[in-house]
Amino acid sequence: MKITVVGTGYVGLVTGACLAEMGNHVLCLDLDARKIEMLNAGGIPIHEPGLEEVVQRNAAAKRLEFTTDVDRAVAHGTLQFIAVGTPPDEDGSADLQYVVAAARAIGERMTDYKVVIDKSTVPVGTSDKVRAAIDAALAARGVTLEFAVVSNPEFLKEGAAVADFMRPDRVVIGADDERAILLMRSLYAPYVRNRDRVLVMDLKSAEFTKYAANSMLATRISFMNELSRVAEAVGADIELVRQGIGSDPRIGTQFLYAGCGYGGSCFPKDVKALIRSASEAGQELELLSAVESVNERQKQVLGDKIIARFGADLSGRRFALWGLAFKPGTDDMREAPSRVLIERLTAAGAEVTAYDPVAMAEARRAMPGQAGLRYADSAVAALEGADALVIVTEWKEFRSPDFDAIRSTLRTPLVFDGRNLFEPALMKQLGIEYHAIGRPSA
Ligand code: UDX
Repeated sequence: MKITVVGTGYVGLVTGACLAEMGNHVLCLDLDARKIEMLNAGGIPIHEPGLEEVVQRNAAAKRLEFTTDVDRAVAHGTLQFIAVGTPPDEDGSADLQYVVAAARAIGERMTDYKVVIDKSTVPVGTSDKVRAAIDAALAARGVTLEFAVVSNPEFLKEGAAVADFMRPDRVVIGADDERAILLMRSLYAPYVRNRDRVLVMDLKSAEFTKYAANSMLATRISFMNELSRVAEAVGADIELVRQGIGSDPRIGTQFLYAGCGYGGSCFPKDVKALIRSASEAGQELELLSAVESVNERQKQVLGDKIIARFGADLSGRRFALWGLAFKPGTDDMREAPSRVLIERLTAAGAEVTAYDPVAMAEARRAMPGQAGLRYADSAVAALEGADALVIVTEWKEFRSPDFDAIRSTLRTPLVFDGRNLFEPALMKQLGIEYHAIGRPSA
């Protein structure tokens, strides 16, 4: 099929590359000329395992092309995916100006039947706005042309985006146009294990499904984070409780890890946006508002523990920080708990020496000129002269570290672990003071 993808951000680039991988002819459009130049030269603007290979392979086969030419992009695809950004407004609602502008650009140029597909995470009702923008552009040209609007939310996880796209749990298609439904079904047929995994529904339900999924997952995390505080207070171990409840198939084992708060480009934004659009529809989401405030509080938990141990004045103290990205497998610093912690520690007078296997360049961009923050070349180098090690991201290489090096390089053998990577009993044996989340300190 001939496909255009508007927007070469995270979702757009993964979508374009993975659709080309199955033999479709994909043209990706972005107005950022530097980005298109980079992509045409075989470079990738984000860190995502496996993506570079897929992009290069398909670009070499001429199935995947990049352009800034809007006329060419609209002419190319029968399927027009809109995967542009929907950044939050000040009030938390999703800013739809780029989505609507993309729809308008299609309406201004199309000459035959198009399926316009919302891939961006957009509030319920956006499909009406997309339709209206295209209708208005066609009316201004004085032409009548058939087109369909489809909602096809993306559920991929950063760090596993290619695998998630190539083997999705489910594909959600919101549509009311039979021809578009058939095209979408055949587009996704090679990706799903069986066709029951393609869920066709009305547009609004499809749009809502994306927010509901992310809000449910965020709720599980905040719930466990809240329980972790209780566990600490009563002397229980949240890790054992997690296993105890997760073995009930009604609860399930995933997304039950207490930690130092969720971050990233989706959960914080989507939770806010759903609260906001519910409120516009006259519905107050009490539970979800609490999910958000529990998470804000949880991002402070490591700082609280450090201050409880060292006192509020941290001047003269130095902390080694392992992990900057909001989760492993990505260099994404958006809403990362590490940022909240670094701001807190440095504001209290401490110095922070941070190490992350891939996110340090991105961190420099996200926190330019951050006072009191330095970067180390390796995990062990970060420990030198530090009063304690603080773990914020659960990169694999942090899971079985050289404990002797930790003990001998730190000024005091002291670890604050925001991701519960180690067994308190082992730390006790090793003579390392250990503070985790919702677990007994050793
Ligand atoms: C999420 C959704 O999982 C994905 O389906 C959607 O398309 C986009 O949003 P992503 O933001 O890439 O994906 O990351 P995810 O792996 O879901 O983790 C989100 C945050 O939750 C991370 O900060 C992670 O550390 C945290 N988390 C996750 C926990 O604190 N505990 C858990 O048990 C799971």
